[in-house]
Amino acid sequence: MALARCPSIAIDPDFEIRFPLRSPTRLYRQTSDEFFSNENLKELLGATVDLAFVDGMHKAEFALRDILNLETYASRSSVVVVDDVLPEKIEWTTRERHTTAWTGDVYKVIRFLREHRPDLDISVYDIEMKGMALITGFNPGDRTVQKHLARHEVDLAGDRYAYSEIEDLRLAIAPEPADALVDYLADLRTRRRTMRVVPKQDAQTGALYLDLLKRSLLNEIYLDDELRLLYLRDCLAGQDSFDYAVLHNIREARLENLEDLKASRRIGRFPDRNIHRSGFSHTMMGRQRLDSLHACLDAVSAGDVPGDLMECGVWRGGGCILMAGWLRVHGDNQRKLLVADSFEGLPKPTHTQDGKLDLTKEKFPELAVSKEAVRENFAVYGLLDDHKQVFLKGWFRDTLTNAPTLQIALLRLDGDLYESTMDTLQALYDRVSPGGIVIVDDYGALPMCRQAVEDFFAFRGEAVPPLTHVDWTGAFFVKPC
Ligand SMILES: C[S@@+](CC[C@H](N)C(=O)[O-])C[C@H]1O[C@@H](n2cnc3c(N)ncnc32)[C@H](O)[C@@H]1O
Repeated sequence: MALARCPSIAIDPDFEIRFPLRSPTRLYRQTSDEFFSNENLKELLGATVDLAFVDGMHKAEFALRDILNLETYASRSSVVVVDDVLPEKIEWTTRERHTTAWTGDVYKVIRFLREHRPDLDISVYDIEMKGMALITGFNPGDRTVQKHLARHEVDLAGDRYAYSEIEDLRLAIAPEPADALVDYLADLRTRRRTMRVVPKQDAQTGALYLDLLKRSLLNEIYLDDELRLLYLRDCLAGQDSFDYAVLHNIREARLENLEDLKASRRIGRFPDRNIHRSGFSHTMMGRQRLDSLHACLDAVSAGDVPGDLMECGVWRGGGCILMAGWLRVHGDNQRKLLVADSFEGLPKPTHTQDGKLDLTKEKFPELAVSKEAVRENFAVYGLLDDHKQVFLKGWFRDTLTNAPTLQIALLRLDGDLYESTMDTLQALYDRVSPGGIVIVDDYGALPMCRQAVEDFFAFRGEAVPPLTHVDWTGAFFVKPC
């Protein structure tokens, strides 16, 4: 477990931890049968199992139950490693322990699975006297073995799959030499990637979908109508005079305003930097920052960076909606999406670094978007999914420390204030995976946000990791490995 670099689970009725565990690990002091009957592994991990190691009771039927239980929570590319499948001596294969080195009859499970589950990909390696099997190609819906499990368990405990001579046993198991494991692992890595890689045609469709999603989030498709509504609002406020011809030919009649609006969507800045003219975009980001967010998501995927996706400060939800669309396109069921906001605007400035920057809803009602409205925005894109999304409502100082995520691959900070940026970094930075990406939306626009990033790293005695600047305000960095 000390080698794990991702959220992990360890089960043993009598464990003893002698090495520091570097990853968030849940320890269960119970048998695996008890664990699987009491717990839902998918809920605990928030994802399917990536890698499991079966090395419990040295009895074939117990190993079989562990493998079948794990398959329920596996994907096709999950790997289950089974120890003790290739004993060096036949005396080691007794069901009760009589020798110092002892494998029990776990080897029978290999013969059994090859007979009953030829669809599984099973390779055995001649490693360290007792051998090791790697199993992939799982199908969580398969019930072939479970249907007659009681009978199979009796057969496994008896002689049906047993050998009395070690030569026969090793011939039947047909192990690969230990050296071949290196090539197998390289091949497995490629296969796991390709299992996840979207086929070319789907990739083109996915790219088109994400492009259309960005255009929709920016309301670029209906920009004329947005301009019409802004025109009518100005007329009602007495700032313009109503003329049906203007309403009808808004493009020509208000060309300059239209160009301003287009530019504001490109660069992610309200016309005249006036929040009251925020319009109908679902995000304050412009196209450049949306494209950059998209590229960051691709980068964590290409780099196999483990962890969830999270935005702190979501406003109307557009950035998170793009992340939800990206997860859908990539068929990524592993990562959760965490959507954190007060859903009632910004807190009153209390930190000296925030000075008198009062962005509370009393002054800026446009900044307060309710959780229901954000969820509705997810829903209109067909992207609301309560199994994979967590909406965390409240002030960051209260909600983030216990945020239900153990590991984060991409963290987006967009809370504007010193306090909001600092609270987010303090609560979550240690959970960002090495190689994970931290995006700071207001780095260029708000000096107090930049100050919070600098102070955070200064308090830790670390340099701010090298920043990539996206546009006039957005920047991101990769957490050093
Ligand atoms: C600039 S907006 C976020 C823009 C959004 N990311 C986008 O792409 O359009 C800032 C958001 O942060 C939230 N916020 C700021 N500070 C917060 C805090 N300390 N706790 C909770 N929410 C906060 C506000 O409610 C607001 O929705």
